[in-house]
Amino acid sequence: MGIQWRDSLSVGVEVIDKQHKELLMRFDRLLNACEEGQGTAELKKLLAFLEEYVQTHFRYEEALQQLRRYPGYEEHRAQHASFVARIRELREKTDKEGFSTHHVLETNNMLLKWLLNHISKVDTKLGEFINSGTP
Ligand SMILES: [Fe+2]
Repeated sequence: MGIQWRDSLSVGVEVIDKQHKELLMRFDRLLNACEEGQGTAELKKLLAFLEEYVQTHFRYEEALQQLRRYPGYEEHRAQHASFVARIRELREKTDKEGFSTHHVLETNNMLLKWLLNHISKVDTKLGEFINSGTP
């Protein structure tokens, strides 16, 4: 597979770009581990890392939005919350029912698509606002 960060995904804010790179790398690692048929313990660990990192990253973006009084904050935060809920749901399901590689691959591909779309639209808009110099 291989999910690559590309320059066109840059939102123009260095810290956010760095976190997006890390996030994509963690997605990639989990998806590769699924495809390589790695053990449940490893897959669970990777999913837990991903879930935690998603939250760290979203918290950063939200704090920045509050600091800069970003007008799109509520809507942006709601999008993050729905993503967090979906990844939590996936993790809870694997905790309860064991790790179905097929299910994890399918769900993660969906989440990844969502994320790429979010970065290129919603986060890009945020980046433009931050760089516009609006106090
Ligand atoms: Fe975002």
